[in-house]
Amino acid sequence: LKRVKKLPKGFVWGAATAAYQVEGNTNLDGKGKIMWDDYLKNQGNFSPNPACDFYHRYPEDLKIAHNLGLNAIRISIAWTRIFPNGYVTDEPNEAGVKYYHRLFHECLKNNLVPYVTLHHFDSPKTLFDQGDWLNREMIDEFVKYADFCFQEFVEVDNWFTINELISLAMCQYIQGTFPPNKLFDVSDAIQAQHNELVAHAKVVNLFKAKGYKGRIGLIHVIQPVYPATNSEADRHAADLRDAFMNRFLLDGTLLGFYSDRTRHLIKEILVANNAELHILPEDLEILKQASKQNDMLGINYYQNQTVASYDGPSETYHNGNGKKGSSVFAFHGVGKDVRNPAIPTTDWDWNIYPEGLYDVLKRIAHDYPDYPVIYITENGMGAKEAWDSSKEYLDDNYRIDFIDQHLAAILKARNEGVNVQGYFLWSLQDQFSWSNGYNKRYGLIYVDFASQDRHLKRSALWFKALSKTMK
Ligand code: BG6
Repeated sequence: LKRVKKLPKGFVWGAATAAYQVEGNTNLDGKGKIMWDDYLKNQGNFSPNPACDFYHRYPEDLKIAHNLGLNAIRISIAWTRIFPNGYVTDEPNEAGVKYYHRLFHECLKNNLVPYVTLHHFDSPKTLFDQGDWLNREMIDEFVKYADFCFQEFVEVDNWFTINELISLAMCQYIQGTFPPNKLFDVSDAIQAQHNELVAHAKVVNLFKAKGYKGRIGLIHVIQPVYPATNSEADRHAADLRDAFMNRFLLDGTLLGFYSDRTRHLIKEILVANNAELHILPEDLEILKQASKQNDMLGINYYQNQTVASYDGPSETYHNGNGKKGSSVFAFHGVGKDVRNPAIPTTDWDWNIYPEGLYDVLKRIAHDYPDYPVIYITENGMGAKEAWDSSKEYLDDNYRIDFIDQHLAAILKARNEGVNVQGYFLWSLQDQFSWSNGYNKRYGLIYVDFASQDRHLKRSALWFKALSKTMK
């Protein structure tokens, strides 16, 4: 028996994708390299090709999405399809520009409102080699690239600047799982996030100053942090972790400054790690101005964290290989992950904790009363799945249950007054997962990556049935 029986009228009911994870064809039509291409090739584990060949098969996938009752889709533009080496010139790559026009047109034809992200973990290689977001030149190029997109893609009314600043920083500079694969570089991790906040803010300010139509926002993944026990030490560790994972970014986006409490907590982490953060005086003016002009806030939610106080040396175990019991990470001053045995986990050892999403929504409304409309821009469950051709649909009742529980948490917060207006499942179809290749499946649509055949999962039918309750 399902918890959610009816969707609110006008609810945005969508699914999410990201360019590098779906398009494939990374060498086609003049696309430039991104930070991942050479790294994946050298590592030899996974290739971003073919992914789900969305570059060619988007008409089929969008039609399925429409038939499943979706009314919106989240997609990202690959910067290097438009400007192959990242630098913005007067001569964008025509094939790339035309591709996105065709794609947006097809979305609209299928009554899918496109919500478009400009940067989803895919910095152009040239700019990445020069420091990525740590180099302020990247900010300037990003602003120019965004400006180009706003002018060119008039089909789009809903824009998100950057996806999940904390995941990018954590994976690049703390856990070493994304290029440039650094470990425990707290200075780089915090500086990159600050610089990305400034980049976002500059784009918002430009969007408004130039009077572009539509709405603009930023996407944060929020992992609520709970102390392992009620001891003062564990509660303080959880506060520190929360400041690093969530509060710093929410403050920078929604307040336009880092509150005294946030600065205090971040300073404690910086001192413990002998790290530094550089903020220019003009940054704060830019953040402040933008904070009043965000039209939307995208929240991605996957799981919570339980944290205990910890003084030992830094350690990290990434759970990219899907082995159970391997998701511990810690560095100085942010406590250590511990398991709460009462919380079930996925095949990848990610906590399944829908209450955390309710807590996140209530917290944003409470701590940031001027927050803009919220969309859940990602939520979903990665699993090991295989197609059984003797069956009509792949049985993923666990995913239905997962979505149902999280949706119930969202609607509960909404009923209590939180302004949340939509949900995008991660993901529309099975796609390429950054550190897990093709083994970790999230889709409503099962993709056989060898043949590129599509099959529906049971969750797709449930998604469709629920879409009909909106009227
Ligand atoms: C989010 C990202 O962090 O989580 C997606 O925005 C990503 O790009 C998703 O794929 C799931 O992560 P993973 O590592 O399981 O693919």
